[in-house]
Amino acid sequence: MSVLFRSFINKGRKNLFKKLLNSTQSTCRCVFFRKYSGSEKKFVSFDEIVAQRRSEAKRSIVVQVNSQASFKELYGYCSKYATIKDVHHYKNNNDEHFMLIEFGSEESLQDVLRSCSTHQKDLDTMAVNSPFLWFRTANGKTENYATPTTVLASINGIEQVNEDKLFKELVDCETVSDQIQLLYDRTRLNDLGVRLRYMVARQIECMLESLYANVAVRPFGSSINGFGKMGCDLDLVLTNTLTDEMTRAGARLVAQTARVEGGRAPWARHMQALGELLELRAAGAARVQRILNARVPIVKFAHHYTDLECDLCYNNMSGVYMSELLWLFGSLDDRVRPLTFAVRRWARAVGLTNPHPGRWITNFPLTLMVLFFLQQKTNDGHVLPTLKNLVRRAGKEDIRIAEENLNCTFLRDMNKLPPECYAQNKVNLQTLLLQFFEFYSQFDFQDKAISINEGISVRKPNSLPLYIVNPLEQALNVSRNVSFEECERLKAEVRNAAWQLEAGMDKQKGDDWGLLGLVEKKTTRGLKKLLRVGNSHRLVSVKDLFNDTDDKIPEDSVKSKVE
Ligand code: CTP
Ligand code: MG
Repeated sequence: MSVLFRSFINKGRKNLFKKLLNSTQSTCRCVFFRKYSGSEKKFVSFDEIVAQRRSEAKRSIVVQVNSQASFKELYGYCSKYATIKDVHHYKNNNDEHFMLIEFGSEESLQDVLRSCSTHQKDLDTMAVNSPFLWFRTANGKTENYATPTTVLASINGIEQVNEDKLFKELVDCETVSDQIQLLYDRTRLNDLGVRLRYMVARQIECMLESLYANVAVRPFGSSINGFGKMGCDLDLVLTNTLTDEMTRAGARLVAQTARVEGGRAPWARHMQALGELLELRAAGAARVQRILNARVPIVKFAHHYTDLECDLCYNNMSGVYMSELLWLFGSLDDRVRPLTFAVRRWARAVGLTNPHPGRWITNFPLTLMVLFFLQQKTNDGHVLPTLKNLVRRAGKEDIRIAEENLNCTFLRDMNKLPPECYAQNKVNLQTLLLQFFEFYSQFDFQDKAISINEGISVRKPNSLPLYIVNPLEQALNVSRNVSFEECERLKAEVRNAAWQLEAGMDKQKGDDWGLLGLVEKKTTRGLKKLLRVGNSHRLVSVKDLFNDTDDKIPEDSVKSKVE
């Protein structure tokens, strides 16, 4: 390789790495590096991405401003104290304007924070250490600030794509594969969306730092697993792990600790207190709800400045490792995330998923269904390895033990995974989506469970209608809430989708060709149209639903399908 070419590649790699971090939580279209030579890294690790995001948040503030036009003044004011790296603008649902400013270093940020006037004296508030601030209008004459040396990195940065525009673009695509890719590109969580999620985590971390030692608040779930869309909720986990240093047996001086007595377990009391603290100390947090009797107790709240719905839980590191696992699977092949987006969007459109919890399937088990499908060894070859394979290849550095001694050890460095373990077929997205629906049209939900650990279906240990093995806790079923009727609907809808997609591949078919027919909300008219074209063996009508299942489906579930 010539020196020039090598330097070009190295520069390319650096830029790509920057792009990777600057793009969606590393969910940019190209999530891995090209392998230029045997010694170079092809994949970035999840831990590297998380460390980068956390450090970015520690160097950033979010400032409420009058309008986008405040940029110049705010930039000038802040750059008196520190070097600015980037400024992003966004509006929340209340049409309030904000600027996220990233500084060059954590120290610079401290300089800026020291320059803040804290609070109005006449208000009944106590000082709080928070990265969420507001920019007061200048009193009297305005200073002449230097002209910003950069432009705004984003304007209206968390505005969601206009659905009409998106559908128009989908109509204009050339192939179904293009439609699937476009849906992903236009709706996935963007860089600012990820930054703001880490800012909310940082805000709570700052609030708790003086109360708990070694405290960390981390996003998990769709905010970081590579499958998040714009506007997705924010799952947060609070940990305050004891380090080896903190538990040294040789130390003579030992910290006195408060005794937590009375009814609830100590952590439940802490969660309760956390709810109070959010109400009292976290600017922007509202509608705080404590759900402490669930298997994983959570405190829910809305974050007004960022328009985020947040679920905060305690010590649920398995949730973080699960997110890491999903992220790794998504990073192994460029098709995994777009395909999952298409499936999740279709499931939402046909009403299989629902934003409210209930007896239906949710996005997380649906994602496991896509991963499981991609593990199948077809004639074309498989796309993803089994989890068993990743566990077998794990080294000492991969050992992770989560709460309740849960072993979450699996290979983390995908550079160590032999190429024959993944991306073995080159089938396009259109074919993969059709094969996904066909695969589940024929899946034996009655007797078999879906297991990404094995990559092949396994015998169900009980008679629950839908059984998807929890990859990190194999004795659990992540879809145990799914009712018989909802599972029947899932079976019927995958068959419908397979038929509909196959019949609608041709662009000439009109405005609901290809993916459009699957992701547009089904109206009564849409369903009637489906029922009219009744000569395909795959077509499942409402009547078929009754026939298939005798009278086991309650009438209301069929009704809700037609509505
Ligand atoms: N999770 C889990 N076991 C479950 C349910 C959830 O480990 N039975 C973890 C997964 O890591 C999941 C995260 O909790 O990603 C958050 O769950 P949820 O918010 O339901 O799913 P998301 O993946 O965040 O998807 P969505 O965009 O619908 O919020
Ligand atoms: Mg979530």
